[in-house]
Amino acid sequence: MPVYQVSQSGPLRGEVIVPGAKNSVLKLMAASLLASGQTEITNVPNILDVDIMAQLLERLGCEVIHDKTNQKLIIAVPEKIGHKADYDLVRQMRASIAVLGPLVARCHEADIALPGGDAIGSRGLDIHLSGLEKLGCEVTNEHGYLIVKAPNGLKAEQISLDFPSVGATENVVMAAVLAKGTTVVDNVAREPEIVDLCEMLNKMGAQISGIGTSTLEITGVSELSPTNHEVVTDRIVAGTWAAAAVITQGDIFIKNAKTQHLELVVSKIEATGAQVKQLAEGLQVTMTGRPQAVDIMTLPYPGFPTDMQPQFIAINAIADGTAMVTENLFEARFRFVNELARLGADVKINGHHCLVRGKESLSGAPVEATDVRAGASLVLAGLVAEGETTVHEIHHIERGYANFVENLQKLGANIERII
Ligand code: UD1
Repeated sequence: MPVYQVSQSGPLRGEVIVPGAKNSVLKLMAASLLASGQTEITNVPNILDVDIMAQLLERLGCEVIHDKTNQKLIIAVPEKIGHKADYDLVRQMRASIAVLGPLVARCHEADIALPGGDAIGSRGLDIHLSGLEKLGCEVTNEHGYLIVKAPNGLKAEQISLDFPSVGATENVVMAAVLAKGTTVVDNVAREPEIVDLCEMLNKMGAQISGIGTSTLEITGVSELSPTNHEVVTDRIVAGTWAAAAVITQGDIFIKNAKTQHLELVVSKIEATGAQVKQLAEGLQVTMTGRPQAVDIMTLPYPGFPTDMQPQFIAINAIADGTAMVTENLFEARFRFVNELARLGADVKINGHHCLVRGKESLSGAPVEATDVRAGASLVLAGLVAEGETTVHEIHHIERGYANFVENLQKLGANIERII
């Protein structure tokens, strides 16, 4: 299995370009199923998860061309599509569940393998399913598959989500766009990736209002048409590069970073003592000296993103002071903390709190990526740890970070991918 060999590096300096967002493109690909014909998606990141979603769309009968040079996907969706998402693909990528809404909307049935355990927690589907049941779906669980049927089609309803779940919001919206009548969904997630999805759906002919707020009003239409859409840039990748500048006391220009999607992250980056300059084309993050410890508490957007929590634990591990990091979304996200402890970090977990006492230095060791963000954070920690750090299970990192090693090398990092 390939690994990343990371050695202690000096300050990272230079420019990186932030690609399209993983958590958006996968949902836009699923949304393409809602209209027969050819959808074109641009600013597509070159990551493993896009290939897995492309395979799933192909299984459903689509033709997918992924032009990696031009960061473009062309998806040809036939009149009649399949309705089964097989276990071998769903188990590789939980985001496969995003085809559920489009399949019940188009086929009035969907058989989706249950995703099962996940590296960052149990991640229920109850909110997805109760929303779809409100729209007229019947749900059963047979032989490891969720069988979702809408024998009488989908009908609009008033829906209030128990929690602003990103995935549940997406599935309910993608089902409601083809339901009869006007669906009002309260307590929806407001992440920029949801805004991106709703904007693409409206270009396809959907009628969604309240985009970006916690209540969406969706008037169903009988048919949608394919469209062209550019993926919003990846705020988590941008935030990870900002964290890289802080931890290595570097100076990185993060091209395409959108500050309006990163407000809390930027304020926490500044709280470490770094200087953040908003320039026309992105963010310049400059750090001199050891970072100050910063407390973090994750919450649904616009709260502090759980996907930036591990990067800040890594920063706090070498910061001046003690920080409390509170994880409110995914219980198993702290699994990575044990790996960080292998590098000598002083970290103590109590329930969903992690106390991090900053140390002057870490020491390189073999570690294992437990999920995509944990993996990136272990690489960041490895860059400042004395000696060599070998990061295993790097497929997690490559699911979400395009050309990670090449970008780090360009910035001056000592890192190699070893096969
Ligand atoms: C998405 C992102 C992930 C990000 C997360 C929160 C993708 C591919 N992944 O994940 O990177 O960390 O949003 O910003 O876009 N829950 C239930 N029942 C449900 C649905 C969710 O209990 O039916 C719980 C989950 O277990 C979790 C919390 O709600 O504890 C948040 O989950 P959700 O917002 O749905 O995240 P994902 O869509 O899985």
